[in-house]
Amino acid sequence: MEIHAYEKFWLAAALLLIVGLIATVSYGAVGAGIEMIGDEGGTVDPEALDDHPKFGDPGVYESGEDEYDVYVVAEQFAFRPGTSDPIEVPANSTVTFHVTSADVIHGFEVVGTNANTMAIPGQVATFTVEVDGPRDYGILCNEYCGSAHHAMEGTMEVVPEDEYDGPEGGD
Ligand code: CUA
Repeated sequence: MEIHAYEKFWLAAALLLIVGLIATVSYGAVGAGIEMIGDEGGTVDPEALDDHPKFGDPGVYESGEDEYDVYVVAEQFAFRPGTSDPIEVPANSTVTFHVTSADVIHGFEVVGTNANTMAIPGQVATFTVEVDGPRDYGILCNEYCGSAHHAMEGTMEVVPEDEYDGPEGGD
């Protein structure tokens, strides 16, 4: 069978597009270091966060050498801690966030990093990040949560190790 040269060319170009598409999607799914947040954080009663051993007094807890757990409650329209007091952790540490919501769905994004989750009432989103040199990060709510959504923000301060005066569980 005779295939015209142009037809061969377009067949090859179409195949290349398909291979390229699959390669791009595969890279985005597994190659870019993106991890989805699973359900291993468990559940919590959003009506009774005050009685929870950690969410009742949210903040930074030391869990090991250079390891910290940060419990954050998102609520209309603030992060506790984060908004009125910054989340403060020392440089060069491993920080595991546990984020939940007291009311509606919020977002919790550490701006400029790939730390980004939804905060869902009843669910705890858990993820771990390595923080390096001292610097400040903004925190944003990126899920529309009501009239002051645009103003819902906070701060995380990564301070030099020798200036860190210990975790402050609670606020
Ligand atoms: Cu909270 Cu948008």
